[in-house]
Order: sequence, then C-alpha cells, then structure tokens
Amino acid sequence: MDKAILTLKDEHRSISAILLGLKHLATMAQDARVKPEFQVFRSMLRYIDEYPEKLHHPKEDEHLFARLLQRAPATKALVDGLQAEHVKGAELIRELERKLMFFEEGWPAGGREFLQAVDAYADFHWKHMRKEENELLPLAEKHLTADDWRAIDRAFAQNQDPITGIEERDFQKLFSRIANIAPAPVGLGDPWKKAPA
Ligand SMILES: [Fe+2]
Ligand SMILES: [Fe+2]
Repeated sequence: MDKAILTLKDEHRSISAILLGLKHLATMAQDARVKPEFQVFRSMLRYIDEYPEKLHHPKEDEHLFARLLQRAPATKALVDGLQAEHVKGAELIRELERKLMFFEEGWPAGGREFLQAVDAYADFHWKHMRKEENELLPLAEKHLTADDWRAIDRAFAQNQDPITGIEERDFQKLFSRIANIAPAPVGLGDPWKKAPA
C-alpha cells in the first residue's frame, strides 16, 4: 500500500482514538457526583479541532483530492461532498466548544447537552473517515499515477502547517499529554473525584 495512504489511515486512527476517549469521558460525566477535570476535555477538543484542521484536511484537499479530480473528473461529487464535510466539521467543533464552556461554567448542568454534541460530532467524523477510506481511497488507488503518488508522498511526509509552523510532533506531544491526564480507562491520569451519594 502507498505510504501516503498508510499515513492518512494512521491519522484517522489517532483522531478516532481521541473521539472514543472523549465519548467515554463525556458519558462518565453524566453522573452529577463526578466532577470532571475540564482540562482533559479542553485538550481533547483542541486535538480534534487542530489536528484535522491544520495537518490532515489540508493534505487531503490540496494534494490527494486535487490530483484525483484531475485524473478522474467523475469523482467530483464525492470530493465536493468530502470537502463540504471538512467545513461542516469545523462548525460542529465550534458548537462542541460552546457546549463545553456552558458545562464547565454551569456544572453539573449542561452535561447532557455536551454529551449530545460529542455524540453528534463523533458520528459525523467517523462517517466522514469511513467514506474517505471505503470510497475515495479505492478510487485514488485506481486512477492516480506513480508520479502522483510520489508528489503526494512528499507532501504528506512534510507534515507541517506552513503558516503556523505546527508539526506532527506537536500533536504527538498533545496526544501523550491527553493519555497522561485522562482518567482510566481512557488514560493514566488520576480518577475524577466522586462525591458520596
Ligand atoms: Fe477528510
Ligand atoms: Fe481524513
């Protein structure tokens, strides 16, 4: 399999791991006696906001999608749909951040709304990634040339946002930090305090 495809799938797995952890902790926080460490939620949201936004989607849009459109114009509807989802995903994240702010300020109120927004975002993003892996990547493998893949591999290997200078390793650090501060079973951090019933 091409290197760029492996990179893309790896990135999907990282995003997916954070989404799964976020869903688990948002569910745990439905018990009003459990006071969440809101820093954990904030770090997770930062990851699922910035990683796709600054590193992952630009590579898809500018390299993979653009070349596929050149080679196979009939894929336009699929590519347009995925690009529209990149925009929609960024809007859903803003909504999620708002819900988290209300939850943190009004705790224990706002937990249910936060969980609903987490579920909506996770389902949306999982569908998006599945569409890319199951529909777009097979078409890319079929239509792109060896030269295309070399160019895409080069672009994917850089893994840096040219404007902000944010790099892959910054996100690896953030990923480790989340694993260190999130409570079990998501991470290795201290358990969230539970008030007696
Ligand atoms: Fe995407
Ligand atoms: Fe993707």
